[in-house]
Amino acid sequence: MDRTLAFIQSEMRRQLAPVYSPRELQQVVFELLEHFGFTRVQVIAYPDAKLSETDYEQLQLMLKRLADGEPLQYVVGTEWFMDMPFSVCRDVLIPRPETEELVRLIVGRCKRPSPRIADVGTGSGCIAVSLAKLIDGAQVTAVDVSASAIEVARRNAEQNSAQVEFVRADILADNQLFVPSSLDIVVSNPPYVTETDKNQMSRNVLDFEPHLALFVPDADPLLFYRRIAELAQQWLKSGGMLFFEINERFGPETVQLLENMRFDNIELHRDFYEKNRMVSAVWNAK
Ligand SMILES: C[S@@+](CC[C@H](N)C(=O)[O-])C[C@H]1O[C@@H](n2cnc3c(N)ncnc32)[C@H](O)[C@@H]1O
Repeated sequence: MDRTLAFIQSEMRRQLAPVYSPRELQQVVFELLEHFGFTRVQVIAYPDAKLSETDYEQLQLMLKRLADGEPLQYVVGTEWFMDMPFSVCRDVLIPRPETEELVRLIVGRCKRPSPRIADVGTGSGCIAVSLAKLIDGAQVTAVDVSASAIEVARRNAEQNSAQVEFVRADILADNQLFVPSSLDIVVSNPPYVTETDKNQMSRNVLDFEPHLALFVPDADPLLFYRRIAELAQQWLKSGGMLFFEINERFGPETVQLLENMRFDNIELHRDFYEKNRMVSAVWNAK
């Protein structure tokens, strides 16, 4: 069996051509070989280097999953977020670059020392872990309804040496959530994809990412925002801040919701694609 990098690369290209564009394909080839310990330079410089038999067999299984449309991040088990590695599996949403913008917004706005923060719907823990690492003395609590997501997030906190408290709770059903009050910041990237949006989504998201993390009913697209804003009213100290990642289709509606709930300094922020993607607001005790 030819297990040289040169042969393996042509094998990969052949098997994955139906799934990826030629440009994506080169990136995927590099990332897969990196998973087996070969840097890009080595892949280019040493075409005769060989994969071990065990690695070769593992690679074949990975190629099959990729050819079936599974996202690369689930297949290699990692996604990078804010320059940190996060373990991901099908129990958690793959962290997105837009969410890095949300984290940067919070880090830039957070002026209080050792802030107390809650991340609602933590998934892989990408927001909670990043804030715990990037904000000095931050005390972060992360909530999710999914026990398996909490397990992944806990592992990510450990792997990245971040101090985060985890709480499993259904924020829509539980009335007595155990989250410390007097918070400085509440953040959430809740489920926000409507049934209508579903038609425009690619199959590899629909077939592989957890629907619990993605979808809200068409009839009430702001369901999670309303509930989290209610919780934020209870949890935040006066002057505390609320940050949301939002569905680009509901920017003005989310702002209106927070105005109706008497939040102050409400701002709608665009992402790098110039789409409405984040909302921030301040809670002053009334
Ligand atoms: C869009 S994902 C965000 C994950 C992660 N924070 C991120 O930005 O990549 C939404 C998360 O909310 C969680 N979730 C859904 N319904 C929930 C509920 N009723 N109570 C608490 N968390 C919930 C899901 O399990 C999922 O992890």
